[in-house]
Amino acid sequence: MVLEKTKETRPKTLDALREDARDCTRCDLYKNATQTVFGEGGSEARVLFVGEQPGDKEDVEGRPFVGPAGRLFDGILEEVGIDRKKTYVTNAVKHFKFEPRGKRRIHSKPNAGEIRACRWWLDQELTLIQPDLAVALGATAARALVGKPVPITKFRGTLLESAEGVPVFITVHPSYLLRIPDELDRRRERERFAEEMRKVKAMMKG
Ligand code: URA
Repeated sequence: MVLEKTKETRPKTLDALREDARDCTRCDLYKNATQTVFGEGGSEARVLFVGEQPGDKEDVEGRPFVGPAGRLFDGILEEVGIDRKKTYVTNAVKHFKFEPRGKRRIHSKPNAGEIRACRWWLDQELTLIQPDLAVALGATAARALVGKPVPITKFRGTLLESAEGVPVFITVHPSYLLRIPDELDRRRERERFAEEMRKVKAMMKG
């Protein structure tokens, strides 16, 4: 029988937690993914950014937000003066879910069961880091953090709360910004997201 880890046996450091997550089989996504892509950053981080799940590049490199959405995200953080190295960046789901199409692997949205199974890791990341603020980048992250579906257009720019009592700032996923076809709309949405990151920065200081 596999014993469920209790509070007492939970890893006491992020490094130990990351090590445990390497062998995660809490849902079936580990079967096709290359590796667990765990969160990145130190336990002293005051803000924790949560994305959806690793993409193709993240799956290969084993690091969150290093693909096209990550580059856009990094650029905006730099622009508003948030040092990514002083934050913690993670995902709601820590294995890449995809559909093979020829040689390509097409991103597939994690379902409610996969989000719930992976919440175990996010809970421990939140508990060990105890950030002042978590930022939900998109609907999957918001659902994982808040514990129920959150309509992003309605709650964007507002604060909700995680099960652990951490304030959760709701915004869009950076990949949404990449997908806007009209250039003017894309620029406007990018500026709105940058403005939200300025608010996040102000909340970090407070
Ligand atoms: N999208 C995410 O939500 N997370 C990543 O790590 C990369 C892309």
